[in-house]
Amino acid sequence: MAYDVEFTPEVEALTAPAWAKVKDQVTPLEWRVHAPLIAQINRLKAEKNAVILAHNYMTPEIFHGVGDYVGDSLGLAREAARSDARIIVQAGVHFMAETSKVLCPDKTVLIPDLRAGCSLASSITGADVRLIKQRYPGLPVVTYVNTTADVKAETDICCTSANAVQVVEWAAREWGVDKVILIPDEYLARNVAAQTDVKIIAWAGSCEVHKRFTVEDIAEMRLAYPGAEILAHPECPEDVLNAADFAGSTAAMSNYVETRRPKQVVLITECSMAANVAGDVPDVKFIGPCNMCPHMKRITLRNILDALQKEQFEVTVDPAIADRARLAVQRMIDLPPPAIPARYDLVKARGHHVDVEMI
Ligand code: 13P
Ligand code: SF4
Repeated sequence: MAYDVEFTPEVEALTAPAWAKVKDQVTPLEWRVHAPLIAQINRLKAEKNAVILAHNYMTPEIFHGVGDYVGDSLGLAREAARSDARIIVQAGVHFMAETSKVLCPDKTVLIPDLRAGCSLASSITGADVRLIKQRYPGLPVVTYVNTTADVKAETDICCTSANAVQVVEWAAREWGVDKVILIPDEYLARNVAAQTDVKIIAWAGSCEVHKRFTVEDIAEMRLAYPGAEILAHPECPEDVLNAADFAGSTAAMSNYVETRRPKQVVLITECSMAANVAGDVPDVKFIGPCNMCPHMKRITLRNILDALQKEQFEVTVDPAIADRARLAVQRMIDLPPPAIPARYDLVKARGHHVDVEMI
Protein backbone atom coordinates (compact mmCIF):
# COMPACT_ATOMS: atom_id res chain seq x y z
CA MET A 1 0.00 0.00 0.00
CA ALA A 2 1.32 3.44 -0.95
CA TYR A 3 1.44 6.16 1.65
CA ASP A 4 2.06 9.89 1.20
CA VAL A 5 5.14 10.25 3.33
CA GLU A 6 6.13 13.82 2.59
CA PHE A 7 6.16 16.26 5.45
CA THR A 8 4.95 19.20 3.35
CA PRO A 9 4.12 22.67 4.74
CA GLU A 10 0.45 21.78 4.22
CA VAL A 11 0.79 18.61 6.31
CA GLU A 12 2.70 20.56 8.94
CA ALA A 13 -0.09 23.16 9.17
CA LEU A 14 -2.88 20.54 9.27
CA THR A 15 -1.21 18.61 12.09
CA ALA A 16 0.00 21.61 14.11
CA PRO A 17 -2.74 21.33 16.81
CA ALA A 18 -1.83 17.68 17.46
CA TRP A 19 1.89 18.51 17.49
CA ALA A 20 1.26 21.12 20.19
CA LYS A 21 -0.16 18.33 22.40
CA VAL A 22 2.55 15.72 21.79
CA LYS A 23 5.72 17.78 21.36
CA ASP A 24 7.06 16.82 24.80
CA GLN A 25 6.43 13.10 24.14
CA VAL A 26 7.38 12.69 20.48
CA THR A 27 10.60 13.89 18.81
CA PRO A 28 10.47 16.22 15.75
CA LEU A 29 12.12 13.43 13.75
CA GLU A 30 9.30 11.00 14.62
CA TRP A 31 6.70 13.68 13.93
CA ARG A 32 7.91 14.06 10.35
CA VAL A 33 6.94 10.36 9.90
CA HIS A 34 3.67 10.52 11.85
CA ALA A 35 2.27 13.79 10.49
CA PRO A 36 1.72 12.70 6.83
CA LEU A 37 -0.08 9.55 8.06
CA ILE A 38 -2.25 11.63 10.42
CA ALA A 39 -3.20 14.00 7.59
CA GLN A 40 -4.19 11.08 5.31
CA ILE A 41 -6.17 9.32 8.04
CA ASN A 42 -8.11 12.48 8.87
CA ARG A 43 -8.84 13.10 5.18
CA LEU A 44 -10.07 9.51 4.66
CA LYS A 45 -12.26 9.65 7.77
CA ALA A 46 -14.14 12.63 6.31
CA GLU A 47 -14.43 11.01 2.86
CA LYS A 48 -15.74 7.72 4.23
CA ASN A 49 -17.88 9.03 7.11
CA ALA A 50 -15.73 7.15 9.62
CA VAL A 51 -14.87 7.86 13.25
CA ILE A 52 -11.96 6.61 15.31
CA LEU A 53 -12.67 5.58 18.90
CA ALA A 54 -9.29 5.67 20.64
CA HIS A 55 -8.64 4.20 24.07
CA ASN A 56 -6.52 6.05 26.63
CA TYR A 57 -3.72 3.48 26.08
CA MET A 58 -3.14 4.41 22.44
CA THR A 59 0.18 6.10 21.65
CA PRO A 60 0.08 9.93 21.77
CA GLU A 61 0.22 10.38 17.98
CA ILE A 62 -2.94 8.23 17.66
CA PHE A 63 -4.66 9.65 20.73
CA HIS A 64 -4.09 13.33 19.90
CA GLY A 65 -3.64 12.99 16.12
CA VAL A 66 -6.58 10.93 14.86
CA GLY A 67 -8.88 9.98 17.79
CA ASP A 68 -12.36 11.49 17.34
CA TYR A 69 -13.44 10.16 20.70
CA VAL A 70 -10.88 9.28 23.32
CA GLY A 71 -11.50 7.78 26.70
CA ASP A 72 -11.98 4.70 28.86
CA SER A 73 -13.96 1.56 27.97
CA LEU A 74 -17.20 3.02 29.32
CA GLY A 75 -16.80 6.31 27.45
CA LEU A 76 -15.97 4.58 24.17
CA ALA A 77 -18.99 2.25 24.47
CA ARG A 78 -21.23 5.27 25.08
CA GLU A 79 -19.77 7.03 22.02
CA ALA A 80 -20.24 3.95 19.83
CA ALA A 81 -23.90 3.82 20.85
CA ARG A 82 -24.35 7.54 19.96
CA SER A 83 -22.34 7.61 16.73
CA ASP A 84 -24.02 8.13 13.36
CA ALA A 85 -20.88 7.42 11.31
CA ARG A 86 -20.92 4.65 8.70
CA ILE A 87 -17.61 3.16 9.86
CA ILE A 88 -16.15 2.86 13.36
CA VAL A 89 -12.42 2.21 13.57
CA GLN A 90 -11.60 0.89 17.02
CA ALA A 91 -8.18 2.05 18.09
CA GLY A 92 -8.09 -0.33 21.01
CA VAL A 93 -8.37 -4.07 21.56
CA HIS A 94 -10.71 -6.67 20.10
CA PHE A 95 -13.27 -6.82 22.92
CA MET A 96 -13.79 -3.05 22.53
CA ALA A 97 -14.47 -3.48 18.81
CA GLU A 98 -16.92 -6.29 19.58
CA THR A 99 -18.71 -4.04 22.06
CA SER A 100 -19.04 -1.38 19.35
CA LYS A 101 -20.40 -3.97 16.89
CA VAL A 102 -22.87 -5.27 19.46
CA LEU A 103 -24.13 -1.72 20.05
CA CYS A 104 -24.10 -0.76 16.35
CA PRO A 105 -25.00 -3.89 14.34
CA ASP A 106 -25.64 -1.87 11.17
CA LYS A 107 -22.27 -0.13 11.12
CA THR A 108 -19.00 -1.43 9.77
CA VAL A 109 -16.66 -1.87 12.74
CA LEU A 110 -12.97 -2.21 11.91
CA ILE A 111 -9.97 -3.11 14.02
CA PRO A 112 -6.55 -2.33 12.52
CA ASP A 113 -4.97 -5.56 13.86
CA LEU A 114 -7.06 -8.63 14.67
CA ARG A 115 -4.39 -9.87 17.06
CA ALA A 116 -5.03 -7.03 19.54
CA GLY A 117 -6.41 -9.24 22.33
CA CYS A 118 -6.58 -9.02 26.11
CA SER A 119 -5.50 -11.46 28.83
CA LEU A 120 -8.76 -10.88 30.69
CA ALA A 121 -10.95 -11.52 27.64
CA SER A 122 -9.10 -14.77 26.91
CA SER A 123 -9.37 -16.02 30.52
CA ILE A 124 -13.03 -17.09 30.25
CA THR A 125 -15.50 -18.47 27.69
CA GLY A 126 -19.28 -18.45 27.31
CA ALA A 127 -19.28 -22.17 28.26
CA ASP A 128 -17.47 -21.31 31.53
CA VAL A 129 -20.19 -18.76 32.36
CA ARG A 130 -22.94 -21.29 31.67
CA LEU A 131 -21.31 -23.65 34.19
CA ILE A 132 -20.98 -20.83 36.72
CA LYS A 133 -24.69 -20.06 36.40
CA GLN A 134 -25.54 -23.73 37.05
CA ARG A 135 -23.38 -23.67 40.16
CA TYR A 136 -24.87 -20.43 41.55
CA PRO A 137 -28.53 -20.40 40.42
CA GLY A 138 -30.45 -17.20 41.16
CA LEU A 139 -27.38 -14.96 41.53
CA PRO A 140 -26.82 -12.11 39.06
CA VAL A 141 -23.79 -12.32 36.78
CA VAL A 142 -21.90 -9.05 36.33
CA THR A 143 -19.25 -9.21 33.63
CA TYR A 144 -16.40 -6.80 33.09
CA VAL A 145 -16.49 -5.40 29.53
CA ASN A 146 -13.03 -6.90 28.97
CA THR A 147 -14.69 -10.10 27.70
CA THR A 148 -15.83 -11.59 24.38
CA ALA A 149 -19.37 -11.08 23.07
CA ASP A 150 -19.96 -14.80 23.80
CA VAL A 151 -19.34 -14.17 27.48
CA LYS A 152 -21.41 -10.96 27.51
CA ALA A 153 -24.31 -12.93 25.99
CA GLU A 154 -24.41 -15.11 29.14
CA THR A 155 -24.37 -12.08 31.41
CA ASP A 156 -27.03 -10.07 33.23
CA ILE A 157 -25.19 -6.75 33.10
CA CYS A 158 -21.72 -5.51 32.13
CA CYS A 159 -19.51 -3.12 34.06
CA THR A 160 -16.24 -1.29 33.54
CA SER A 161 -13.68 -0.22 36.10
CA ALA A 162 -15.44 3.17 36.16
CA ASN A 163 -18.78 1.84 37.42
CA ALA A 164 -18.15 -1.64 38.86
CA VAL A 165 -19.24 -0.79 42.42
CA GLN A 166 -22.36 0.99 41.16
CA VAL A 167 -23.30 -1.96 38.88
CA VAL A 168 -22.71 -4.63 41.57
CA GLU A 169 -24.89 -2.71 44.04
CA TRP A 170 -27.58 -2.23 41.38
CA ALA A 171 -27.58 -5.98 40.58
CA ALA A 172 -27.84 -6.95 44.26
CA ARG A 173 -30.81 -4.57 44.69
CA GLU A 174 -32.60 -5.70 41.50
CA TRP A 175 -32.22 -9.42 42.29
CA GLY A 176 -32.84 -8.90 46.02
CA VAL A 177 -29.67 -10.82 46.98
CA ASP A 178 -26.56 -10.09 49.05
CA LYS A 179 -24.13 -11.91 46.69
CA VAL A 180 -23.13 -11.11 43.12
CA ILE A 181 -20.91 -12.95 40.62
CA LEU A 182 -18.31 -10.49 39.24
CA ILE A 183 -16.07 -11.99 36.52
CA PRO A 184 -13.43 -12.42 35.14
CA ASP A 185 -10.92 -10.04 36.85
CA GLU A 186 -10.03 -11.32 40.31
CA TYR A 187 -8.31 -8.06 41.26
CA LEU A 188 -11.18 -5.85 40.18
CA ALA A 189 -13.49 -8.17 42.13
CA ARG A 190 -11.35 -7.84 45.27
CA ASN A 191 -11.19 -4.09 44.91
CA VAL A 192 -14.95 -3.82 44.46
CA ALA A 193 -15.49 -6.08 47.49
CA ALA A 194 -13.48 -3.63 49.60
CA GLN A 195 -15.91 -0.83 48.72
CA THR A 196 -19.31 -2.48 49.15
CA ASP A 197 -21.23 -4.67 51.57
CA VAL A 198 -22.34 -6.93 48.70
CA LYS A 199 -20.48 -10.28 48.83
CA ILE A 200 -18.52 -11.05 45.68
CA ILE A 201 -17.93 -14.34 43.87
CA ALA A 202 -14.88 -14.03 41.60
CA TRP A 203 -13.00 -15.77 38.77
CA ALA A 204 -9.21 -16.08 38.63
CA GLY A 205 -8.60 -13.91 35.54
CA SER A 206 -6.20 -10.98 35.55
CA CYS A 207 -4.72 -8.24 33.42
CA GLU A 208 -1.17 -9.19 32.49
CA VAL A 209 -0.17 -5.51 32.60
CA HIS A 210 -1.63 -4.39 35.93
CA LYS A 211 -1.00 -7.54 37.95
CA ARG A 212 2.75 -6.93 37.64
CA PHE A 213 2.70 -3.82 39.84
CA THR A 214 3.66 -4.48 43.45
CA VAL A 215 3.37 -2.67 46.74
CA GLU A 216 7.19 -2.47 46.72
CA ASP A 217 6.97 -0.37 43.52
CA ILE A 218 4.76 2.10 45.40
CA ALA A 219 7.10 2.19 48.43
CA GLU A 220 10.07 2.91 46.12
CA MET A 221 8.16 5.73 44.42
CA ARG A 222 7.21 7.29 47.76
CA LEU A 223 10.85 7.23 48.86
CA ALA A 224 12.26 8.57 45.60
CA TYR A 225 9.58 11.21 44.98
CA PRO A 226 8.15 12.41 48.29
CA GLY A 227 4.96 14.39 47.72
CA ALA A 228 4.16 12.78 44.35
CA GLU A 229 0.53 11.61 44.18
CA ILE A 230 0.07 7.97 43.20
CA LEU A 231 -2.95 6.89 41.13
CA ALA A 232 -3.62 3.23 40.31
CA HIS A 233 -6.00 1.31 38.04
CA PRO A 234 -8.50 -1.08 39.75
CA GLU A 235 -7.02 -4.04 37.80
CA CYS A 236 -3.95 -3.79 40.10
CA PRO A 237 -3.60 -6.05 43.15
CA GLU A 238 -5.49 -4.91 46.27
CA ASP A 239 -2.37 -4.01 48.31
CA VAL A 240 -1.19 -1.75 45.46
CA LEU A 241 -4.50 0.13 45.52
CA ASN A 242 -4.44 0.43 49.28
CA ALA A 243 -0.97 1.95 49.11
CA ALA A 244 -1.98 4.39 46.35
CA ASP A 245 -3.68 7.77 46.89
CA PHE A 246 -6.48 7.11 44.43
CA ALA A 247 -7.91 4.22 42.43
CA GLY A 248 -9.95 4.72 39.29
CA SER A 249 -10.54 3.86 35.66
CA THR A 250 -8.33 5.44 33.03
CA ALA A 251 -10.89 8.27 32.61
CA ALA A 252 -11.12 8.78 36.37
CA MET A 253 -7.32 9.05 36.58
CA SER A 254 -7.29 11.66 33.77
CA ASN A 255 -10.04 13.54 35.49
CA TYR A 256 -8.15 13.51 38.79
CA VAL A 257 -5.02 14.94 37.19
CA GLU A 258 -6.90 17.53 35.12
CA THR A 259 -8.95 18.86 38.02
CA ARG A 260 -6.50 18.49 40.95
CA ARG A 261 -3.29 19.42 39.08
CA PRO A 262 -0.86 17.63 41.42
CA LYS A 263 2.71 18.95 41.02
CA GLN A 264 4.04 15.42 40.52
CA VAL A 265 2.04 12.30 39.75
CA VAL A 266 2.67 8.59 39.22
CA LEU A 267 0.13 6.66 37.13
CA ILE A 268 0.25 2.95 38.00
CA THR A 269 -1.09 1.73 34.68
CA GLU A 270 -0.20 1.36 30.98
CA CYS A 271 2.60 3.59 29.68
CA SER A 272 0.75 5.68 27.10
CA MET A 273 -1.72 6.93 29.67
CA ALA A 274 0.73 9.41 31.24
CA ALA A 275 1.98 10.53 27.81
CA ASN A 276 -1.59 11.29 26.69
CA VAL A 277 -2.74 13.12 29.80
CA ALA A 278 0.52 15.11 29.82
CA GLY A 279 -0.50 16.75 26.52
CA ASP A 280 -3.43 18.42 28.30
CA VAL A 281 -1.69 19.36 31.56
CA PRO A 282 1.79 20.71 30.77
CA ASP A 283 2.17 22.00 34.36
CA VAL A 284 2.06 18.47 35.88
CA LYS A 285 5.21 16.33 36.10
CA PHE A 286 4.65 12.62 35.36
CA ILE A 287 6.98 10.03 36.88
CA GLY A 288 7.32 6.31 35.90
CA PRO A 289 6.97 3.38 36.41
CA CYS A 290 4.55 1.95 33.88
CA ASN A 291 3.95 -1.34 32.07
CA MET A 292 3.27 -1.66 28.36
CA CYS A 293 0.19 -3.53 27.05
CA PRO A 294 1.45 -5.53 24.05
CA HIS A 295 -2.08 -5.84 22.68
CA MET A 296 -2.86 -2.13 22.69
CA LYS A 297 0.53 -1.49 21.12
CA ARG A 298 -0.40 -3.53 18.03
CA ILE A 299 -2.41 -0.52 16.87
CA THR A 300 -0.33 1.98 14.88
CA LEU A 301 -0.98 4.93 12.58
CA ARG A 302 0.07 2.77 9.65
CA ASN A 303 -2.43 -0.02 10.32
CA ILE A 304 -5.18 2.53 11.07
CA LEU A 305 -4.57 4.02 7.63
CA ASP A 306 -4.61 0.53 6.06
CA ALA A 307 -7.85 -0.19 7.91
CA LEU A 308 -9.50 2.89 6.43
CA GLN A 309 -8.11 2.45 2.92
CA LYS A 310 -8.99 -1.25 2.61
CA GLU A 311 -11.91 -1.25 5.06
CA GLN A 312 -10.26 -4.06 7.02
CA PHE A 313 -10.42 -5.94 9.41
CA GLU A 314 -14.13 -6.13 9.88
CA VAL A 315 -15.31 -7.31 13.30
CA THR A 316 -18.50 -9.35 13.19
CA VAL A 317 -20.61 -10.89 15.93
CA ASP A 318 -23.22 -13.60 15.36
CA PRO A 319 -26.55 -11.67 15.47
CA ALA A 320 -28.11 -14.11 17.97
CA ILE A 321 -25.15 -13.62 20.34
CA ALA A 322 -25.08 -9.88 19.68
CA ASP A 323 -28.76 -9.51 20.62
CA ARG A 324 -28.16 -11.14 24.01
CA ALA A 325 -24.86 -9.35 24.64
CA ARG A 326 -26.52 -6.00 23.79
CA LEU A 327 -28.97 -6.38 26.67
CA ALA A 328 -26.09 -6.65 29.13
CA VAL A 329 -24.11 -3.74 27.66
CA GLN A 330 -27.18 -1.52 27.20
CA ARG A 331 -28.29 -2.12 30.79
CA MET A 332 -24.94 -0.76 31.91
CA ILE A 333 -25.10 2.23 29.56
CA ASP A 334 -28.61 3.05 30.75
CA LEU A 335 -27.47 3.44 34.36
CA PRO A 336 -26.64 7.07 35.21
CA PRO A 337 -22.96 7.93 34.61
CA PRO A 338 -20.85 7.18 37.70
CA ALA A 339 -20.62 10.20 40.00
CA ILE A 340 -17.30 12.03 40.03
CA PRO A 341 -16.54 12.03 43.72
CA ALA A 342 -16.02 15.32 45.51
CA ARG A 343 -13.26 13.83 47.65
CA TYR A 344 -11.29 11.49 45.48
CA ASP A 345 -9.66 9.66 48.37
CA LEU A 346 -13.05 8.26 49.37
CA VAL A 347 -13.06 6.17 46.20
CA LYS A 348 -9.95 4.33 47.29
CA ALA A 349 -10.52 0.86 48.69
CA ARG A 350 -11.47 1.10 52.36
CA GLY A 351 -8.05 -0.04 53.37
CA HIS A 352 -9.13 -3.32 54.87
CA HIS A 353 -9.07 -6.77 53.37
CA VAL A 354 -12.44 -8.22 52.36
CA ASP A 355 -12.46 -11.80 51.17
CA VAL A 356 -14.13 -12.89 47.96
CA GLU A 357 -15.34 -16.40 47.13
CA MET A 358 -13.28 -17.83 44.27
CA ILE A 359 -15.10 -19.99 41.73
P1 13P B 1 -10.59 1.39 31.40
O1 13P B 1 -11.99 0.95 31.34
O2 13P B 1 -10.22 2.00 32.72
O3 13P B 1 -10.26 2.27 30.26
O4 13P B 1 -9.66 0.10 31.31
C1 13P B 1 -9.64 -0.72 30.19
C2 13P B 1 -8.46 -1.57 30.18
O5 13P B 1 -8.26 -2.38 29.31
C3 13P B 1 -7.56 -1.39 31.27
O6 13P B 1 -6.55 -2.28 31.23
FE1 SF4 C 1 -6.33 -6.29 28.61
FE2 SF4 C 1 -4.71 -5.44 30.51
FE3 SF4 C 1 -4.17 -4.83 27.98
FE4 SF4 C 1 -6.25 -3.68 29.25
S1 SF4 C 1 -4.09 -3.44 29.72
S2 SF4 C 1 -6.24 -4.58 27.19
S3 SF4 C 1 -6.93 -5.37 30.56
S4 SF4 C 1 -4.19 -6.91 28.87
